[in-house]
Amino acid sequence: MTIQKTYTMIKPDGVRNGHIGEIVNRFERAGLTVERMELGEVTAEQARENYKEHEGKPFYDGLISYITSGPVVKMVISGDGAVAKCRSLMGATNPAEAAPGTIRGDFGLIMDENVIHGSDSPESAEREIAIFFG
Ligand code: RTP
Ligand code: MG
Repeated sequence: MTIQKTYTMIKPDGVRNGHIGEIVNRFERAGLTVERMELGEVTAEQARENYKEHEGKPFYDGLISYITSGPVVKMVISGDGAVAKCRSLMGATNPAEAAPGTIRGDFGLIMDENVIHGSDSPESAEREIAIFFG
């Protein structure tokens, strides 16, 4: 058993479309624990830091303005293998390719507004938790 912490964030479309409860429920049903949770805006500085790896890519500017466009739900989730478990509950990046039963597969429509973010490794998780929760 490897207890991990991961950072997940319900993106502005997920909040706007009323999916907060359902998403949190899916994490809890999977045996994960919500350790911290906060509804609020992401600053441009936090957004740029979180998505630093994508700087210079064609979709980067749109991604930053989108993630700062409205309230999000920032969460620290913990549990056995939490990083991979959350990514698997989220589904593929592009909602058009995400399997039914995954969060993006069920609630997402387009690549640019894909409902949820989740850390892609334990190292990213540590970095991202520090960005959003200090
Ligand atoms: P996230 O970081 O948001 O959890 O998503 P991810 O790991 O599944 O995907 P990532 O490669 O990190 O991309 C970050 C976000 O950028 C947008 N994107 N657009 N047009 C494109 O080719 C493209 N590629 C990525 C997506 O909104 C993705 O969630
Ligand atoms: Mg990513």
